Amino acid sequence: MPRKFSVAIVGATGAVGKEFLQLFDARKFPIGSISLLASPRSVGQSIDFQGHTVPVQATTAEAFRGVDFAFFSAGAERSREFIPHALSAGAAVVDNSSAFRMDPSVKLIVPEVNGDTLTAEDRLVANPNCTAAILLMALSPLRKLGTIRRVIVSTYQSASGAGAAAMQELLDQSEVVIRGGAPIPRVFPHPIAFNLFSHNTPINEEGANDEEAKVMAEARKILGMPDLALNVTCVRVPVLRAHSESVTVEFEGEAPALDAIRAVWQASPGVRLVDDRGANHFPMPIEASGQNDVLVGRLRCDPSEPRGVCFFVSGDQLLKGAALNAVQIAELMIERGFING
Ligand code: A2P
Repeated sequence: MPRKFSVAIVGATGAVGKEFLQLFDARKFPIGSISLLASPRSVGQSIDFQGHTVPVQATTAEAFRGVDFAFFSAGAERSREFIPHALSAGAAVVDNSSAFRMDPSVKLIVPEVNGDTLTAEDRLVANPNCTAAILLMALSPLRKLGTIRRVIVSTYQSASGAGAAAMQELLDQSEVVIRGGAPIPRVFPHPIAFNLFSHNTPINEEGANDEEAKVMAEARKILGMPDLALNVTCVRVPVLRAHSESVTVEFEGEAPALDAIRAVWQASPGVRLVDDRGANHFPMPIEASGQNDVLVGRLRCDPSEPRGVCFFVSGDQLLKGAALNAVQIAELMIERGFING
């Protein structure tokens, strides 16, 4: 009999937590039992999963007893506090937060990019920043065609990256504006409906915000290219759940032919080419939403630089940007026999 696992989700009531449940079901993740953990505020709630009504429990040190896999998606503070307890209880942990991503002893994994680096010793694996994961799905395959020298990215990031309350804020504010009212920001620092703004994270001394700094550092770590020249501008836009990115890539020599790039993407698992110039149909967040694949297209030569190409990518922030990538990491650990019964 194939082994079934005891699974815990920390942040089960959140936007990413809900996607975990949907993915476990759709992908037939081998679940024996499930613990749904959140803040003490959610105790008393329950969530339906595979025909059972599962009560939400408070996240405590003891909640990880007997757990094989713990998926954390409740912010870096909770990860720092509770992951040590999950690990000492013997669970393998996939952490969606930024808490351990840049820890040199922790692998930061996008399975399609660097899944081959996982070993049985990796009991805690970090899941990357959503923008970095979506970018790398499109960028990494291009390394088959040449040496990448420099990458410039501008993002169009959805509300979901800031959680379920932020998604609701976008819906509520939209209604207020349509009725002629003035939106009052609560979750975001500025109105999100009918607006866009520089990513809502603190700005460092160099003028980069936290999100930009994360994308640059994490992309270099996942690609194993510590010196990659990278320039990222992150912007929040009034879109519910898929991030988009405009990307310019410069190669060491002349840029590869566009047809070769299209062919490489078409052969890449998890990537779908949407590149119809005639119909002016390219990746859109509305079409990326709810999709496991990251959409790539709008491919063209950089008119300002013969070594450059430009493209556009849209990916579901809650799926490949979060829950899907985490579930794929766990599936890889099972497949390789790293988690045994
Ligand atoms: P809760 O619903 O009880 O607040 P989102 O990213 O959509 O905002 O979701 C955040 C998730 O993190 C929610 O499941 C939330 O639970 C959970 N969370 C927030 N604070 C804590 C905490 N102190 N302990 C455990 N889980 C928490």
